[in-house]
Amino acid sequence: MRPLILSLIATFCAAMTSSAEVKKAPFGKLPDGKEVDIYTLSNAKGMTVKIMNYGAIITEIHVPDKSGKTVDVALGFDDLQGYLDGHPYFGAIVGRVANRIGKGTFTLDGTTYKLATNNGPNALHGGKVGFDKKLWQAAIVNGKEPSVSFTYISPDMEEGYPGTLGVTVIYTLTDDNALRIDYRATTGKATPVNLTQHSYFNLAGHDAGDILAHEIMIAADEYTPSDATLLPTGKIESVKGTPLDFTKSTAIGQRIKDIKADPAGYDHNFVLRVGKESPYLAAVVKDPKSGRVMKVMTSEPGVQFYTGNFLDGKNKGKGGAVYKQYGGFCLEAQHYPDSVNQPKFPTVILKPGETYRQTTIYQFSAE
Ligand code: GLA
Repeated sequence: MRPLILSLIATFCAAMTSSAEVKKAPFGKLPDGKEVDIYTLSNAKGMTVKIMNYGAIITEIHVPDKSGKTVDVALGFDDLQGYLDGHPYFGAIVGRVANRIGKGTFTLDGTTYKLATNNGPNALHGGKVGFDKKLWQAAIVNGKEPSVSFTYISPDMEEGYPGTLGVTVIYTLTDDNALRIDYRATTGKATPVNLTQHSYFNLAGHDAGDILAHEIMIAADEYTPSDATLLPTGKIESVKGTPLDFTKSTAIGQRIKDIKADPAGYDHNFVLRVGKESPYLAAVVKDPKSGRVMKVMTSEPGVQFYTGNFLDGKNKGKGGAVYKQYGGFCLEAQHYPDSVNQPKFPTVILKPGETYRQTTIYQFSAE
């Protein structure tokens, strides 16, 4: 009897290790001939995540519902060409500075730096060729959970930013269906750093239409109001009595048309209730139909809640999916936009000898 039990345990353990693994495969070539690889992380709970070393982009996130039915909840493309043809940061790591910098300029230690203005009058998401369009160096991390690290060295003055910046982003898929993202960066000269993950989620499936019936709670009592170009005014205001009050879980579509913006929709930085222990709760999103839930925890002081207002159906996604307005939502954990020009916002300046650290967790479940 005993040997049988032992052999069953051995088989079970082998199954556990073989399901919790990382697989590497070719994903295409860049125009300069460089190879791009895709890494598949899977765990024993039925979750699979695919990430490539171009842009450290998450291309697929397969999540089971209560009955075990698994769908891909991340917007994206079937092949590398889809990403090379241009897209609004699907699944990408954004940097060196995520979100907007007013008029594409800032002054640091007496020197004024000029960046490309690639979003109306402002700089957006790291510039013309940000970290989302760079080939990162990937390495499978040995450990009990499937994990891959991506490293990129951004040269001094790349996209106008001072200092050579070394960045490492580690993606780990845990046994409790959490995708954990740990960021580290060090610099040769003082420079602004604000990294984020720009995945678009649709908990009903990437091709399931709009996310307006999803319900969201955001752990924020305040937000940073912005002007018509989505640049913060510098004020911090209460969400009370506004369509931005998600302190109680509310359908995304319930008040979306009350947002006075063109196009209408959420594209706001929320000031998170910073918890004593980090990472702390930032948001919980639920798709009432499938019961899939995504909980977001972060070490960051803010989160940009963006409802895909600019999606216009032009991006033909995976399996021919057409991503229309509100076809996905982003929860971009970050420091506040334009912090480099707003002395009252928490600083984004990284100095030589310091280490930038950020952790964000997207945890999935079903109820
Ligand atoms: C962020 C911005 C949006 C938009 C998207 C990309 O979420 O806040 O305004 O630029 O990225 O389309």
